[in-house]
Amino acid sequence: MNRTAALFVSFLAFVFSLGAQTTGETGVEEKVESLLERMTLEEKVGQLNQYSSTFDLTGPAPTDTGGQQRYRNIRTGRVGSMLNVTGVEATCRAQRLAVENSRLGIPLIFGFDVVHGYRTMFPIPLGEAASWDLEAIELSARVAATEAAAAGLHWTFAPMVDIARDARWGRIMEGAGEDPFLGSAVAAARVRGFQGSALDATDTLAACAKHFAAYGFAEAGREYNTVDISEHTLRNVALPPFKAAVDAGVATVMTSFSEIGGVPATGDEHLLREILKGEWGFEGFVVSDWDSIGEMTFHGVAANEREASALAVTAGTDMDMESSAYIEHLVALVKDGVIDESLVDEAVRRVLRVKFRLGLFDDPYRYCNEQREQQTLFSKSHLAAAREVARKSIVLLKNDGATLPLAKTATSIAVIGSLAADKDSPLGSWRGRAVTGSAVSLLEGIQEAVGADVRITYAEGAPLVVGTRNFVQELELNHDDRSGFPEAVAAAQDSDVVVIAVGEEAFQSGEARSVVNLRLKGVQEDLLKAVHEANPNVVVVVMSGRPLVLTWAADNVPAMLQSWHLGSEAGHAIADVLFGDHNPSGKLPVSFPRHGGQEPLYYNHKNTGRPVTEGDVFWSHYTDESNEPLYPFGFGLSYTTFEISKPELSSAVMDMDGELAVTVTVKNTGKRAGAEVVQLYVRDPVASVTRPVKELKGFEKIELEAGSERKVTITLRSDDLAFYTADGTWKAEPGEIVVFVGSSSEEVLEGRFVLSGETAR
Ligand code: NOJ
Repeated sequence: MNRTAALFVSFLAFVFSLGAQTTGETGVEEKVESLLERMTLEEKVGQLNQYSSTFDLTGPAPTDTGGQQRYRNIRTGRVGSMLNVTGVEATCRAQRLAVENSRLGIPLIFGFDVVHGYRTMFPIPLGEAASWDLEAIELSARVAATEAAAAGLHWTFAPMVDIARDARWGRIMEGAGEDPFLGSAVAAARVRGFQGSALDATDTLAACAKHFAAYGFAEAGREYNTVDISEHTLRNVALPPFKAAVDAGVATVMTSFSEIGGVPATGDEHLLREILKGEWGFEGFVVSDWDSIGEMTFHGVAANEREASALAVTAGTDMDMESSAYIEHLVALVKDGVIDESLVDEAVRRVLRVKFRLGLFDDPYRYCNEQREQQTLFSKSHLAAAREVARKSIVLLKNDGATLPLAKTATSIAVIGSLAADKDSPLGSWRGRAVTGSAVSLLEGIQEAVGADVRITYAEGAPLVVGTRNFVQELELNHDDRSGFPEAVAAAQDSDVVVIAVGEEAFQSGEARSVVNLRLKGVQEDLLKAVHEANPNVVVVVMSGRPLVLTWAADNVPAMLQSWHLGSEAGHAIADVLFGDHNPSGKLPVSFPRHGGQEPLYYNHKNTGRPVTEGDVFWSHYTDESNEPLYPFGFGLSYTTFEISKPELSSAVMDMDGELAVTVTVKNTGKRAGAEVVQLYVRDPVASVTRPVKELKGFEKIELEAGSERKVTITLRSDDLAFYTADGTWKAEPGEIVVFVGSSSEEVLEGRFVLSGETAR
């Protein structure tokens, strides 16, 4: 062995021994410092550089100049992380390249968008949030992490915790909807699910709360657009889910593409250093979004990528995703005295800390087990979990005359709509490494659910066609092809009941899929009208990644389900609900508009100085449409009925440092067992700043047998009533508080109490 090789081996032994001496969290800081001391400036900057997989890591070394440069950088410790490299073979080949060739052998961290599943797909996150079932949501993230970790990954770019109030924004599908309280609870559940009890377990992933911050507030719902949000709304609405993720121990945070008030988020010191790393004490690392460091030149705050790098690292963006700005400029920026090396050190410390916590220094190949990969992905138990979560995510929007559940003995069912037979759309638009067309379609679900005596006639009605709007070729429903109508009408006429699937193909929502028109795409509404005329016994199944305008359907058809994009087991889950094997219990995590012009639309709005005044024109309203949503936040029906009593308060006064119990009796007044989500809202009618007309502050999902009842108590503390006040502090203010409890944000009964004492901070 020559001297260099011997040194290398002894250094590797040293790095591994660091890992072996202590496991998990213990000693991490010492290990980070000790490694940092040995790193050259170039090696440090390398840790902040993240590349996407642009060449086949399982094939021969690249021959093009760009690929060769990247290849060389991996081998020489100039790369800290890779994204989009997946599967044991590829990740482990890349890991070997880095660990066995670079001077210090620092392992790479592999990240990927594991958003609602890796191979087994769960409902899109907005759909899962409709379950209001935090255990189910945690389970979904747990399964996704188990599969992704088995496929060699260490890190997911999820959860997206952006509050979204505008259904025009395509990424509304990726979060938990419009409410900061529900959004915070879901954010924490997802972080728990991905990260499990220990980051260094081999079936967990480091999570990433994104996009910091207020990305969902893009003007007019247009993707990547400018955000101009007050500190008031930022703190009260946009930031709470991020804070919840940080409190739940999220390992990383991703910046947003957008600017806020003239400052691109990737260069926003106030957000990253003051709030995230300062006020909240976040210890993990911040990754930019894809090229968002480079994009600061387009925003117009940096003349070139060198300036952009200086801005980003100064603001607190630790890792550069794919712009190569850090690897190209940070060393020179330090050497030229433009930035201090301590800024680089701080960023590197954060990256190394997460790598140590993941156990990558204990064994960089701990995720390299092909047998485990094969056994884990798409396993029966994962599919069973996906079906369970999917059925819980379905929201029953309408059910006149108990149209649903359908009897499995109906003699004939017409199943209409190309989405009904589509095995791909249910996989959603962030589908990890799902196999194309691997979902159970609605048609298949119905066929399996009913006996052979039931005649099922399928008619496409409106085809899925290759879209022309996007640069990538995608299937969609935006066209005016009515040639399939006669067949659909005939099928409807000839059947007892019609189940029609309408909505969006998977990629009609998601990143860069903003729309101005929220109506059913293409000719779907006309198809629905034609079918309904032929047979009014229609059940509408809406598959979409966002709230659509369903006003005609709501006024005309007897039954309607919101079924999102539900994942691998979609067809089974919807059939479970259609035929009553599962009693639906989902509740909308976002308001459904009557008209697209109402957006942004959200229940927790302010009162304005001109609230509703009957008989007057000068109040805050539209002259051509109601202010009200078609279906409000928190709304969802069941096959049974529930009565929720007026809330009883444990006291008329609550001290700032005390608590108050709000109790209701919930009774299942119908004929079936079912689940109800009891929702508690508050209003602070007079405060130092205006407060929303209602804000969710607690909920509990309970199961009740037919005829039985149960008391539900939700406890409030002053923390729950705190907000960002006029003097810029987060606290509750004394005074009267109105409490509302019920089955949705509109179906509520109220009580009142007084919050007394000194303002708590
Ligand atoms: C851009 C998206 O905004 C972000 O959410 C995602 O994680 C990255 N691309 C990586 O795919």
